[in-house]
Amino acid sequence: MGFLSILGQTHKLIQERVKQGDIVIDATVGNGNDTLFLKKLVGDNGVVCGFDVQITAIENTVKRFSDAGISLEHVHLIKNSHDKMLEVLPPSMHEKVSAIMFNLGYLPGGDHKKITQQETTIRALQHSLLFLEKDGIITIVVYSGHPGGKKEADAVLTWVQNLPQQYYQVLSYQFLNQKNNPPFLIAILKR
Ligand SMILES: C[S@@+](CC[C@H](N)C(=O)[O-])C[C@H]1O[C@@H](n2cnc3c(N)ncnc32)[C@H](O)[C@@H]1O
Repeated sequence: MGFLSILGQTHKLIQERVKQGDIVIDATVGNGNDTLFLKKLVGDNGVVCGFDVQITAIENTVKRFSDAGISLEHVHLIKNSHDKMLEVLPPSMHEKVSAIMFNLGYLPGGDHKKITQQETTIRALQHSLLFLEKDGIITIVVYSGHPGGKKEADAVLTWVQNLPQQYYQVLSYQFLNQKNNPPFLIAILKR
């Protein structure tokens, strides 16, 4: 049996820590796959907040839920940049969120120019730390193959490597011999 894919490993780490009733954030909604995954984990009493800058992503996600027959109750899809989460989400959510997922890059099947950007990604990650509860997890799936992707990947790596180890555990999961800039996973655990 092969190793888990990047997405499989991401979901495994999240699944191990998120339970019914939790509050979670999908920082890059895209086509809604991770949003739906999170909604199934937190259930009817949990809350999912999702950010995306593109209306297409929000629409695709509404359709994704409808196709799956899953209710959007307590799912807040926010058409805004994830680096605005501090302004948009209530202070009552600070240190209450068990998981925050980032899946960087562009919307599959969408406009490849509308990509996550180094500055906003790092700002959103900084703000995410304020929302994360103790033992909460942030996952970041990083792509470096598209224009600007390498710069963003390097910025993310530098940022996570500088997180103080007494407060955060940081790991990476990646395939070292795959061709064509495969994605890799960074996970941050708040202690
Ligand atoms: C790789 S896709 C996400 C895929 C998604 N997780 C899924 O399961 O389908 C990246 C998404 O990030 C969005 N994005 C780009 N910049 C953003 C920003 N500043 N804030 C929030 N989302 C952003 C893009 O519009 C795109 O939909």
